[in-house]
Amino acid sequence: MSGELILAVESSCDETSIAVVEDGRHILANVVASQVAMHAATGGIVPEVAARAHLRWIVPTLDEAWDNAGVTWDDVTAVAVTEGPGLAGSLLVGINFAKTLAYVHGKPLVPVNHLEGHLYAAWLADDTRELAEPLFPLVALIVSGGHTFLVEMRDHLTYRLLGETVDDAAGEAFDKVGRLLGLPYPGGPEIMKTAAGAVRNDVVFPRAWLGDTFDFSFSGLKTAARRTIAGERAEGPPTGESPPLPADRVAELAYGFQESVVDVLVTKTLRAAKQAGARSVVLGGGVAANRVLRDRLADGARAAGCPLVVPRPGLCTDNGAMIGAAAARRWEAGARAGLDLDAKPSLPLARR
Ligand code: KG4
Ligand code: ZN
Repeated sequence: MSGELILAVESSCDETSIAVVEDGRHILANVVASQVAMHAATGGIVPEVAARAHLRWIVPTLDEAWDNAGVTWDDVTAVAVTEGPGLAGSLLVGINFAKTLAYVHGKPLVPVNHLEGHLYAAWLADDTRELAEPLFPLVALIVSGGHTFLVEMRDHLTYRLLGETVDDAAGEAFDKVGRLLGLPYPGGPEIMKTAAGAVRNDVVFPRAWLGDTFDFSFSGLKTAARRTIAGERAEGPPTGESPPLPADRVAELAYGFQESVVDVLVTKTLRAAKQAGARSVVLGGGVAANRVLRDRLADGARAAGCPLVVPRPGLCTDNGAMIGAAAARRWEAGARAGLDLDAKPSLPLARR
């Protein structure tokens, strides 16, 4: 690849994002319009509201990305767009927008799997430091609000699914337990911040190991957290129907919950890396913005001789640059979509 510019559109969930990426590695622009503040009011995403917000923000997002990139349409090789998985209405806004751009400017259209985007974010060069490129074979842990899985890659664009969640995604567990603890939406970053202030670190929640599989389960942990929180609230001073827990206790419980999730994710990923003879470990998806997970996996992977490659937090949560990174590989491999491209809300990345 050389000098190939991809304009990438991402709108699968609650961020409207447009990026311009060169050779799948260098970010010329990456504008993210987040709906997080809007969805905080309802404590979660209402799909119709999300789709309407994408419609509202997609043109200003393109304008800003275009200004930042400082390129012309003549420079652009192709337009890429997330085709799935995600919310159907949200995906359709990005897909129709990308189709229009491709048609009007006479550019090919490249369809991208959102999960492949999270993976290929690891190949993006950072603003501040040149990230080492992942080496094959590798194992990748993708942990987001909708997905949690481990894959082995022996080459580009080829995946073997090692394990996945049998119930909730890791991010979903963070968000649900955040709500139980009375923290704002989304719970992931809030739990991380709150847990960092815990004075006592002796709360231990269960870990679901599921034998020696590489599958994950977080629903038992969520139930244990719910029981503990409800029990402790009931013991509180009788000042109301359901008095909130004191802030220092919320911090301790958040710490215990985060430890349980991180322990399982790190232990299974390192075991998979060893079994696969991995030379790199890749971490991606919104939950990869979690500092404790990043640090613990980095330490373990370094000790095992297969260093961790993880994008900076802003490239772990949904963004267009990661779609541009994956699109560059897909483009090279000949992937093209017609103007009949449709949303694929349940598109998988890999099968066992
Ligand atoms: O990848 P993403 O932006 O969207 C999906 O494709 O789902 O992931 C969003 C998820 C949310 O569940 C959010 O709570 C979680 O990532 N998340 C975090 C952190 N930042 C975002 N979870 C734990 N710690 C964080 N710092
Ligand atoms: Zn995502």
